[in-house]
Amino acid sequence: MLFALNYEHHYMKAVKTLGQFIIEKQADFPYAKGELSRLLRDVGIAAKIVNRAVNQACLIDIVGDAGTMNVQGETQKLLDVYANEQFISALKSGGECCMIISEENEEHIHIDSAIAKDAKYIVAIDPLDGSTNIDVNVTVGTIFSVYRRKTIETKASLEDVFQQGTHQVAAGYIIYGSSTMLVYTTGKGVNGFTLDPSIGEFCLSHPNMMMPEDGAVYSINEGNLGCFQQGVKLFITYCQETDQASHRPFASRYTGSMVADIHRNLIKGGIFIYPSSADNPNGKLRLLYECNPMAFIIEQAGGIASNGHIRILDIQVNDIHQRSPIFIGSVNMVNKALSML
Ligand code: AHG
Ligand code: MN
Ligand code: MN
Repeated sequence: MLFALNYEHHYMKAVKTLGQFIIEKQADFPYAKGELSRLLRDVGIAAKIVNRAVNQACLIDIVGDAGTMNVQGETQKLLDVYANEQFISALKSGGECCMIISEENEEHIHIDSAIAKDAKYIVAIDPLDGSTNIDVNVTVGTIFSVYRRKTIETKASLEDVFQQGTHQVAAGYIIYGSSTMLVYTTGKGVNGFTLDPSIGEFCLSHPNMMMPEDGAVYSINEGNLGCFQQGVKLFITYCQETDQASHRPFASRYTGSMVADIHRNLIKGGIFIYPSSADNPNGKLRLLYECNPMAFIIEQAGGIASNGHIRILDIQVNDIHQRSPIFIGSVNMVNKALSML
């Protein structure tokens, strides 16, 4: 009964789809030609196709290893490969993207088709984030970042992305969780859309998302504790101490999917850390398609992101698969961690 009432209540309200929202926002930019809007639409289409595969999983034999490795030496999952193909194909046929950088491709991909001749945008993408969770039905995601090509006269080149993350024009993630959501920013706040499978549309559910300044959750792979620098160990000990005034001990929550951990912390407050370690001085996560887009979103929601020394978005990128340590989340928690390094 209660469910029926709430359900009806939802459809009594006007539903705003991602497509409608994008067109409405476009009016804020009088000279915009709708190209970025169409690019975001293309990302949304691929997201729905990947969502279908994630939901059907074992039923369509998309779970398990593909038997190949990516450039970082990681085993590719079938769904890594499938998601990569779907996003590349949607961006190719959309005509607004001239170059793609993907976690799953060693080299950047030029799009030379006739419809992409005047395309302005470059997309860096982690098609499937949290791959190790696919086989066990735990939340996975997609992360994307959009750059504008510097000159339209010459072919897009790596120079267009070898710059600082502050030059991103849009960034977002899709979370394939207990419900599927698309969250994105174009530098004017962060908005979240929940996929309503019954109508096949992402509908505005989280307008103007803001991250709490404080939180009571820390997310880090503590199995690696022995390899962390002293300051990170000190911060973990701080999180575990008892202190009523600061609501400690904090809860430890870490899924192995950056998208899931950051989405939870964005809504509830918290910090996500993937630090450097003795073996991996640059940490694990990649700047172009993991750290930078997440840093852009979190900053737009009022949080901060650092590599331990400088703001993530100020790091100069020199390699498409460049890694960086990351401390990201609620402003007071991240500043506390940084003060201990
Ligand atoms: P991907 O599946 O795209 O390779 O990314 C996995 C990332 C990130 O999502 C997660 O937070 C982290 O790797 C987990 O790494 P550990 O298993 O080393 O903690
Ligand atoms: Mn990832
Ligand atoms: Mn991935």
